[in-house]
Amino acid sequence: MLAKSFLLSLLTVSVANAHFTLRYPEPLGKSAAKQDQGPCGGYSIDANTPVTQFYVDGDAVAYSSSHPEVKVLFRIIEGNSPDGPNSYKGFPIVEQYGAGDFCEPQVTAPKSLVGKQGIIQVVQNAVDGMLYACAYVRFVNGVNSKLPDTCKNGTGVDADFSADASLEAIFGSSSDTPSASETTSAPTGTGTPSSGSLKSFSMVAGVVGIAVAVLGGL
Ligand SMILES: *[C@@H]1O[C@H](CO)[C@@H](O)[C@H](O)[C@H]1NC(C)=O
Repeated sequence: MLAKSFLLSLLTVSVANAHFTLRYPEPLGKSAAKQDQGPCGGYSIDANTPVTQFYVDGDAVAYSSSHPEVKVLFRIIEGNSPDGPNSYKGFPIVEQYGAGDFCEPQVTAPKSLVGKQGIIQVVQNAVDGMLYACAYVRFVNGVNSKLPDTCKNGTGVDADFSADASLEAIFGSSSDTPSASETTSAPTGTGTPSSGSLKSFSMVAGVVGIAVAVLGGL
């Protein structure tokens, strides 16, 4: 009995410590110890924070996740404050199945941010609650043609477009609501590297579905 509860508590501890590690862009900090604390997993921007260039027409966000099933929000924030007034969805909310490396190479930001600094916030809605990590970036024109080595999907990792009310709620005020024009900047079949596969076809169908839903809601 005692042994069983000891094992159970060990299990709880290891799940609580597991979480995810943002690999690209370079995160504010690498420890996941306070990852349940928003907006940036216990980290803030200071003089030593690394700054990564982020290409507004398509760049990578890569992380390694230990949870077998999570929903993920890629949020683009203008300026130095994660609570700043202007933020955007960099990609539709994704549901990831299978633990391991995950990289979305087509995260976008509004062109109006070129030349400005900002924050890429990755929020996971996981089995143990909301988890946060941030990277500090400078937005530049174009598409990242030299994706980092960390941009890869683990074997057995799969993903699909999804929806999640808790993640959407992070876009609190109406000024944060992604506009239809941002939605249409989501990747289309022509820009998708693996556009031949059924998978990317369903991803594209998902984008169209979301765009239609957003337009319908206006
Ligand atoms: C990883 O999988 C997602 C979902 O299928 C896909 O959108 C993305 O392009 C993949 N990443 C890489 C580096 O192939």
